[in-house]
Amino acid sequence: ATAALAAASLAFAAPAFAEDCQDGEMVIKFSHVVAATGHPKGDAATMLAKRVNEEMNGKACMQVFPNSQLFDDDKVMEALLLGDVQLAAPSLAKFEAYTLKYRLFDLPFLFQNLAAVDRFAASDAGKGLLNAMTDVGFVGLGYWSSGLKQFSANKPLLLPSDATGLKFRVQTSDVAVAMIEAMGANAQKLAFKEVYGALQTGVVDGQENSWSNIYTQKFFEVQDGITETNHQLLAYLLVTSDEWLNGLDPDVRDQFLTIVQEVTQAANSAVADKEAASRQRIVDAGTEIRTLTPEQRKAWVDVMKPVWAKFQDDIGVELIEAAVASND
Ligand code: LMR
Repeated sequence: ATAALAAASLAFAAPAFAEDCQDGEMVIKFSHVVAATGHPKGDAATMLAKRVNEEMNGKACMQVFPNSQLFDDDKVMEALLLGDVQLAAPSLAKFEAYTLKYRLFDLPFLFQNLAAVDRFAASDAGKGLLNAMTDVGFVGLGYWSSGLKQFSANKPLLLPSDATGLKFRVQTSDVAVAMIEAMGANAQKLAFKEVYGALQTGVVDGQENSWSNIYTQKFFEVQDGITETNHQLLAYLLVTSDEWLNGLDPDVRDQFLTIVQEVTQAANSAVADKEAASRQRIVDAGTEIRTLTPEQRKAWVDVMKPVWAKFQDDIGVELIEAAVASND
């Protein structure tokens, strides 16, 4: 693969990591919804493409399509099965149509920090969950963390009761809906690319997301401030189709999977710094960030924790216990 961009490839959607694939190279298309740079997932996707294109030159050629330019998260899974793309990394909140086990990752106040997420991902329970969708044709290649989530609205939020009656955009996740309803607020599922406009026009009053998404999507510009709740994890499953992966020559597959593993590790170890940098950029832009006192934080935990019981049978108590144990 060369780094030259063929004009012809601009006709549909130009990949962020411009790659003019050569005849005979297997093309690996990676579609995602976030910013191409300055974001844990955007940067990880670019890192993966660079390594594949350098080290598998002549055999494979990876193209990355960021910013929902190719597919939304609700369409990308079908696209994987159809062979229109080979890689995607939707948030773990978005797999409810294929497995209910990933509801685990959405339980509010489950993981205390990203180190706990890394420990869970490396555990037998975490590794086993990568295969939760093989019966429907998908294989998880790794977990890519993106940070804990923060709340914002068109008014200050310090206690969950401040959110009473407000409408919050959520991902396509019933756990998120239950969490918002537990706050006495209303939830609306919306595609990621629609969130800024929905906040700006008042279709919704608030949102919850990682620092990097709040910064790169400019949500902070159309909200009153951000409340540092760290209430839930945002993490992705790097996912492919079983058919594609198992159709590869074994040596090509091994080389690819080794690169994936190394990039996953490198990307995850860079997430905390990237999140802190996005948080600082929001402060620098003059947006108020509200931190919670221990009593205020306890109020959020008390309201949200009961949500766990609703989803415990979908997930399995043992899995929940394994995730909780990763906090120690
Ligand atoms: C969202 O929809 O808010 C996130 O899943 C977007 C992303 O991929 O970070």
